Order: sequence, then C-alpha cells, then structure tokens
Amino acid sequence: MKFLILHGPNLNLLGQREPGVYGSATLEEINGYIQSLAEELAVQVEFFQSNHEGALIDKLHATLGVVDAVVFNPGAYTHYSIALRDAVASLPIPVIEVHLSNIHAREDFRHQSVIAPVAAGQIVGFGPASYLLGLRAAVSLVQSGRK
Ligand code: DQA
Repeated sequence: MKFLILHGPNLNLLGQREPGVYGSATLEEINGYIQSLAEELAVQVEFFQSNHEGALIDKLHATLGVVDAVVFNPGAYTHYSIALRDAVASLPIPVIEVHLSNIHAREDFRHQSVIAPVAAGQIVGFGPASYLLGLRAAVSLVQSGRK
C-alpha cells in the first residue's frame, strides 16, 4: 500500500508559524513521525507540500494508479477552494482531510470546509497526531475496500 501525504499552503513554515496554534514541530519533523508510523505499519508514504493551488491539484491528478489514498491538509484552501474540492471529488481513491488545529473551535471562517463533503472523513485538532490518525484511517479504509 502506498499513500500520498499532501500539505497545503504555509505548512512549510511549521515550527516558526504561530507556534501557539500549530505547535513547535517543523514539517520535516512531522514527516519524520509519519515515516516512522508508515514503517511500523509496513506501508509506503510519499510527501508533497505546495503553496500553490494548481500544484496541489496537479499532484492530486497524478495520484491516479500510483497511490491507494491521500492524507491531505489543504491549509487555508480548505475553507474556499472549490477547485481543490472538485479535484478531490474526481478521485476514485479515499482522501482523508486532516488539520493540526481544531478548525471548529477557531474563527467562524475556519468552521466551514468545502473539502469535507467529498473527503472520506476529517480529523482535526490533534496537532501532528492528526496526520498519524489520518494515515491509520487511510490504511483501514483501503484494507476494507471503502472509498
Ligand atoms: C490548518 C487550519 C487552516 O485553517 C489554516 O489556514 C492552516 C492550517 C491546520 O492544519 O490546522 O493553514 O489547515
């Protein structure tokens, strides 16, 4: 089994960006935790981060026949990118939406996710562990043959 771990805009700044909200771990450290869990679960993971909507869309399109599921933190695009939502909806594989922070406990504009209705599910608020739970959810979905 192979999974894409997809990080959206500004997540390259983790560690220095609003540490009170997002914690002190860098993206590289978070990817390291994910890699360790992937090894423990005997699955493969690929990582990609972009600050550009089109690059994220291209990467989602390129998953076709390459990965079994995607763990996706769309960053601020979560709240308004219909283009990313359509890209997620077009995929035949499950996409698990994850967020470090609990978007439902933050500003009103973060409560809505345009991605959630087309995602397999949403995991929010557990810091870097949101990604680890997301990977476990992805493995479980693929094992059970669900989208
Ligand atoms: C985020 C939440 C978004 O609202 C925000 O724009 C981010 C990070 C999170 O992981 O908590 O960039 O996706």
